[in-house]
Amino acid sequence: MPVRCRSLPKIRVALVGVGNCASALVQGLQYYSDRKEKECIGLRNIVLGGFGLNDIEVVAAFDIDERKVGKDLSEAVFAQPNNAPKLLDLAISNVIVNKGPVLDGVGEYTKQVVHVSIGSEANVPMVLKESDAEIVLNLLPSGAVKASQWYAEQSLVSGCAFVNATPSFIASDAAWANRFERAEIPLVGDDLIDQVGATTLHKTLLNLLSMNGVHITETYQLDVGGGTESLDTLERTKEVKRIVKTKSVEAALPYPASVVAGSTDYVDFLQNRRDSYFWIRGVYFGNVPMQMDLKLSTVDAPNAGSVLMDVIRAVKVARERRLKGSVVPICAYAFKHPPQIMSLETAEKLFSEFMAEEK
Ligand SMILES: NC(=O)c1ccc[n+]([C@@H]2O[C@H](COP(=O)([O-])OP(=O)(O)OC[C@H]3O[C@@H](n4cnc5c(N)ncnc54)[C@H](O)[C@@H]3O)[C@@H](O)[C@H]2O)c1
Repeated sequence: MPVRCRSLPKIRVALVGVGNCASALVQGLQYYSDRKEKECIGLRNIVLGGFGLNDIEVVAAFDIDERKVGKDLSEAVFAQPNNAPKLLDLAISNVIVNKGPVLDGVGEYTKQVVHVSIGSEANVPMVLKESDAEIVLNLLPSGAVKASQWYAEQSLVSGCAFVNATPSFIASDAAWANRFERAEIPLVGDDLIDQVGATTLHKTLLNLLSMNGVHITETYQLDVGGGTESLDTLERTKEVKRIVKTKSVEAALPYPASVVAGSTDYVDFLQNRRDSYFWIRGVYFGNVPMQMDLKLSTVDAPNAGSVLMDVIRAVKVARERRLKGSVVPICAYAFKHPPQIMSLETAEKLFSEFMAEEK
């Protein structure tokens, strides 16, 4: 069963940003904790590195929205503008959401939907220390570059490992990686890979076709979503996401082709859903053309849950092994923009070898 597998202290996580992804993670931890192993459908790993899901404990949380700050985490994850699906009623967590500094957390577009709290800011390093957090999980909006860097600084000051789920370049930035290395703290990122990810699916399709001798000439993947994150992307991170996704997709082909991959727009009535469109053109035997048009429909927040649970446990293993700086096998397995870009197969292999290593 997915209960605690070790008689070790729990993995103590601080959440930065109590948005849709945080909602999926917090709900998922309770959802799976009550289930027997054979009922744990929808997870990549029930046990990882010897840790079950009940070994993960959220001990602190930070946000800036007045509907979340000062609330118990079990209530805050369902507060608007979050629109992740509700999986269950949550038990009181006794983790009260603290207010952090706003910095660039709210953009021109998202200020229509995020209501900044007028309450006073918590002393973030003190909260991290008092809650005995060991991993800071950065789930800020993708445009919150300064705020993401600020929380990376607080991790360094507090001796916490830092997980960057956002597309801000931190784990893939040599200067940040060196700072974490000098501080002897693990760092992983950047930009989380989804469980049913459009980028992964796109790369897998291209890989399959090219392995079968098809020569891909042009391909694109574009998507629309209805979460707050899609609204923020529209204003602030469309370009960076396009670069990250396009580079990642290009790496799937053994030869150059015209590739475009990115996010296109925000469609409010989609709620937390995302529609991803794929178009692939190539030639095969006798230079005969082929073309493929596909649509994938997913819900954003649950798409992050299983991967986040794996990352948290893998980072705990990295801490136990006293690894420092960017931990490449975890970055490559779970993030779209790791410090070293590699094929899906190589990333999978590296991660399994890493998890199988002797402690
Ligand atoms: N499947 C996925 O959802 C997925 C996949 C890959 C990457 N990501 C990344 O994860 C991040 C979180 O995504 P999300 O959908 O949960 O976003 P979201 O917009 O739902 O949540 C962001 C939260 O951060 C809070 N916030 C804003 N500024 C803040 C600040 N300065 N301090 C503290 N809190 C602040 C907001 O109030 C909100 O609650 C994004 O960067 C996204 O790109 C998500």
